[in-house]
Amino acid sequence: MARLTVNGKNYDVDVEADTPLLWAIRENVGLTGTKYGCGIGQCGACTVHIDGVATRSCSVRVSQVTGKKITTIEGLAAAGTVHKVQKAWIDHDVPQCGYCQSGMIMAVADLLKKKPKPTDADIDEAIKNICRCGTFQEVRAAIHAAANA
Ligand code: FES
Ligand code: FES
Repeated sequence: MARLTVNGKNYDVDVEADTPLLWAIRENVGLTGTKYGCGIGQCGACTVHIDGVATRSCSVRVSQVTGKKITTIEGLAAAGTVHKVQKAWIDHDVPQCGYCQSGMIMAVADLLKKKPKPTDADIDEAIKNICRCGTFQEVRAAIHAAANA
């Protein structure tokens, strides 16, 4: 049994200590906005914030995050107000199939906290998430829009 704090609520989940956080979020907590892509820390579809830092949840064990604050895409909008990154995504029609986009948005939200006005080079360095639909141009435009919002 492990206690997870997700989007401000506590959940006691019945999993092994070495269960990947992604599994616990989806299967035990029941929040399915965080996606499984590769399972090996490469694609970024599973990105959540742990104590505010964008982290690939497939590569973190439940035992590593007890007592930490986990935020998923479902918890990004504060008090029902869409986050500026979500707003820019909507305005720029970024998603195609959408599968990668929750992880992409969580990664970008963290980037903008660290670098409020990222350059293209900053974006290339920080955002390594993979999008099989090839939305990279729209992602870049939306990041700049969010930075200027
Ligand atoms: S599913 Fe976690 S990085 Fe791909
Ligand atoms: S929008 Fe389809 S994988 Fe990114």
